[in-house]
Amino acid sequence: MTIKLEVERRKTFAIISHPDAGKTTLTEKLLMFGNLIRTAGTVKGKKTGKYATSDWMEIEKQRGISVTSSVMNFPYKDFKVNILDTPGHEDFSEDTYRTLTAVDSVVMIIDATKGIEAQTIKLFKVCKMRGIPIFTFINKMDREAREPLALLEQIEEVLDIETYPMNWPAGMGKRFLGIYDRYQNQFVKFNGNEKESYLADGELDNHPDLINDPTFQDMKEELSLLDEAGDQFSLDAVLSGDQTPVFFGSALAPFGVEVFFDTFIQMAPNPKPRKTTEGLIQPEKADFSGFIFKIQANMNPAHRDRVAFLRVCSGKFERGMTVKLTRSNKLIKLTQTQQFVASSRDTVDTAFPGDIIGIYDPGIYRIGDTLLEGKENFKYDELPQFPPELFKRVTAKNVMKSKQFKKGLEQLVQEGAIQLFTGYPMESHIIGAVGELQYQVFEHRMKHEYNVEVNLESIGERIPRWLELEKVDTQLFDDRNLLVKDRDGTFLVLFKNDFALRWFQDKHADIKLIDLYDVN
Ligand code: G4P
Repeated sequence: MTIKLEVERRKTFAIISHPDAGKTTLTEKLLMFGNLIRTAGTVKGKKTGKYATSDWMEIEKQRGISVTSSVMNFPYKDFKVNILDTPGHEDFSEDTYRTLTAVDSVVMIIDATKGIEAQTIKLFKVCKMRGIPIFTFINKMDREAREPLALLEQIEEVLDIETYPMNWPAGMGKRFLGIYDRYQNQFVKFNGNEKESYLADGELDNHPDLINDPTFQDMKEELSLLDEAGDQFSLDAVLSGDQTPVFFGSALAPFGVEVFFDTFIQMAPNPKPRKTTEGLIQPEKADFSGFIFKIQANMNPAHRDRVAFLRVCSGKFERGMTVKLTRSNKLIKLTQTQQFVASSRDTVDTAFPGDIIGIYDPGIYRIGDTLLEGKENFKYDELPQFPPELFKRVTAKNVMKSKQFKKGLEQLVQEGAIQLFTGYPMESHIIGAVGELQYQVFEHRMKHEYNVEVNLESIGERIPRWLELEKVDTQLFDDRNLLVKDRDGTFLVLFKNDFALRWFQDKHADIKLIDLYDVN
């Protein structure tokens, strides 16, 4: 098969949702369609999906499972599906955001009884801002839920996106009759624990009980209102991230999942050209290229291995091929590579654009690295760094352990688990994170993987601004506007609050303060 045909078959997406909205349940159903598993309950250990802080520590023990299941691939009909999981805990880590750079679309699951929940708004907004097509699955219609129109309104308002209901529910909870599939003009009847049945428009008259049910009639009325007053469906708008197709259903039943997936898989984009320092690179290009979006250490504690997750962007990957790491111009032979299938890791021999492969990392890769084949030299667009909001000073409890301490810090920074800054002129280690959970994970991993206990001293929420200066007058800075250096040795200031930032700006108008982050 040519590369072009392989590209056309690939659908690479992430499922994002608030914890408990039903991501695990839906993923399991999709895996069952893909014949990867026969029964539900094998995606994650039960309860590991809950991600309360203490549970997260348990995941640590089960890392093999939770991590390998974070990327899954399987064939479905004519397609090859790659699903990337995003950690669903309340507290974001940068991993969550970065995963979004490796996908071509996302499926957003919303709990119909709750609507969009505050902590996940940020994640959805990142998708919107990056123009990633969003497909919405409104789950748990078998329960008493919010009014469908109110749910759509909330999505439109919060995400500033048009909605187009691909199907429309007849009732909910105990009165739930099913959904009308507006795309294929059929009614999908909810049969409780039994499999759903499909009734084409012409067949409905043979079901007088159904069409005379007031709940069904309400649905018809709402549908004609939607036809008249709702937005028009536009695949272009979906693909540019301006409209989200909305599907109602129940992942648990399962009900409406197959209709959703069949429609989604047709509409979701396949891999597109990606930006590099040398312009756009087409996925069909013969030479292999890709970038690393995640590095995971100690996936198998028995082996202390590190795996770099690479998204293939062009050409054909073949195991054993020699590629160039563009950051250092080093040539590397890729022999130890894996693809991830549910809870096992298989060796991968070939891969195509859209696929995610795991490559063994002896400590040479960084997040954002480009690997490529051929004579050219380019780099995929920098992965966005996300603004750390919380900062803490970190020291080793036992000074005798400074060697392990430095090693641990260095590896966790490379992995992207934390961002590291150095105090100036007095050297100290300051770490920045997006949420509190990242610190707990950091502490835990330093202790268990590097055998170092750490002290963390909070310096609170801070606003980082970079300086374009080689030399700075250290007299201008104190604790309210703390001077530090980043990993590349560039100066930046951690301002205590907006007020401190403005005060400094007024007083030193000649010093340019740069906000490196475009998210928020
Ligand atoms: P998550 O991965 O997004 O965190 O959610 P998960 O799938 O684990 O689902 C969270 C809870 O919601 C589970 O119940 C699950 O059974 C339930 N659920 C998921 N989809 C539906 C649905 O369509 N309808 C209904 N009524 N419930 C749904 P739990 O009691 O917390 O867990 P469990 O003990 O059943 O595993």
